[in-house]
This record gives sequence, C-alpha cells and structure tokens, in this order.
Amino acid sequence: MAIFEWDNKYSVNIAIIDSHHKKLFDIVNNIYDLMEHGADDDSIIKIISELLDYTNYHFSEEEKMMEKINYPDISSHKREHVDFIALLTEYFDSAKNGKAIFVAVKLSDAGVTWLKNHILTTDTKYQKYIAANNLTV
Ligand SMILES: [Fe+2]
Repeated sequence: MAIFEWDNKYSVNIAIIDSHHKKLFDIVNNIYDLMEHGADDDSIIKIISELLDYTNYHFSEEEKMMEKINYPDISSHKREHVDFIALLTEYFDSAKNGKAIFVAVKLSDAGVTWLKNHILTTDTKYQKYIAANNLTV
C-alpha cells in the first residue's frame, strides 16, 4: 500500500523538480512498506540513508534553480531545507541507534506531512514567481 499518491496539485510545472518530488515520495512509500512488512533494522537504516542523500541532492538542485532566476525568497526557502535536513539527520542517527521502526513510523507520518506542506506552500511560491515574471527554467 502506498501512503502517498501523486496528484497534479503537487506539480510545480517544472518537469525535473516534479520528478525529484515523485522520487522523494517513492522513497517514503518504500519506508512505509518496509515498516508494514516488519523489515529488519538494516533495511530501514539503508532506505533512510537513501532518503537523506536524495533529499540533499534535490534541495541543492532546487536551490541552484532559485539562484538562477534570482528568486527573492531564496533565504527563507533555504532555511526550510536546512531544517528538514537536520530533522532527517536526527532520524537517521536514531535509526542507527536502535530505533529504526520508530523512525520509520515518524517518517511515514511527519515526513510525508512536511513534504506535502513544503511543496504546496513553499515550492508553490517560486512557481508563482516564475509564472508572474514569464521566466523559463
Ligand atoms: Fe523546496
């Protein structure tokens, strides 16, 4: 079962960014599946590490795009990214310290909520800026 289903409302109208967001939700869905099937700690730790790596990659690509278009709200946007990376790093450390299942539960709930909110509120703002200024990225 998937905890997250992609819907067009999550699209920021930038194909590459949408593909990153889809991949992030795929990873979170996989974490949820592992948790549901009682996977061992090592499998969960491995996928949380994948989520952390991919999130870092995605955020840095998104930030490059915002720099390219001189996006005025880049600082506050970047701060949200820093906070989420800090949270994921905390989760990753807890998972390695024997709390893998607990972290998987947290990520399936708080992690999904954070991603949805970030896309729908914060990412949507640069989408509006791009549209309002007729920019191409
Ligand atoms: Fe973002």
